[in-house]
Amino acid sequence: MNFEEYQHRIEQFLKNEIELYGDELVLPRDAVQALFDVHESQADWQSIGDLAQFHSAIKDCLKCPLGGNRIKFVFGSGNPAAEIMLIGEAPGADEDRQGLPFVGKAGQLLDKILAAIQLDRNEVYIGNIIKCRPPQNRDPLPQEIEACLPYLHKQIELVDPTIILCLGRIAAQTLLRTTESLGRLRSKVHDYFGRKLIVTYHPAALLRYPQYKRDTWEDVQLLQRIYIESKK
Ligand code: URA
Ligand code: URA
Repeated sequence: MNFEEYQHRIEQFLKNEIELYGDELVLPRDAVQALFDVHESQADWQSIGDLAQFHSAIKDCLKCPLGGNRIKFVFGSGNPAAEIMLIGEAPGADEDRQGLPFVGKAGQLLDKILAAIQLDRNEVYIGNIIKCRPPQNRDPLPQEIEACLPYLHKQIELVDPTIILCLGRIAAQTLLRTTESLGRLRSKVHDYFGRKLIVTYHPAALLRYPQYKRDTWEDVQLLQRIYIESKK
């Protein structure tokens, strides 16, 4: 069943209930649960063991309205067996056009930051919290994040990095399930389900506020230290 058919089925269900119950809709638990079950069984990507296959399985996603407005789905890119995974926020205009993460101005700065600690973007894996561009690059909405997050979790499982670097507040707050400020989340090593997670400024923020560069430099040196340690 595709998305439209599923939507149609929900519409039919709700129309029926309206006819039966009018203004005070009664939603029988079993019937609602049956709809959820159909939805869950759609997630037939759960058992996929390979990033490329996973990409094909989800690239036509329409779970949230951003899907209908994208040029390209931005899955993620880099080394599928990377030790370090970088997680940004959402695709911008350049990413939406090319279907690749961090290829615009922020991405160019990210490449320089990585080069400063002798890393190349092809050695690491780069993904985002959400995979389609929000209009006018606004912050992702909570419901967009929740719809998309299972995909990132699956990617983390498949890449299986030892270290995760969150780029910016949205990535950090989403993964750590906190509302703490970025300033409080950076410069320490968090545990993320057995992986090391660290946080730094988003490169787009550095373009606007160069005064954060010094802290970012410290954060990526911390990244480099724990990366070297993890290889010992
Ligand atoms: N900003 C992000 O957070 N992600 C991208 O892929 C590009 C810009
Ligand atoms: N090196 C710098 O000089 N600045 C940064 O932001 C990152 C690495």
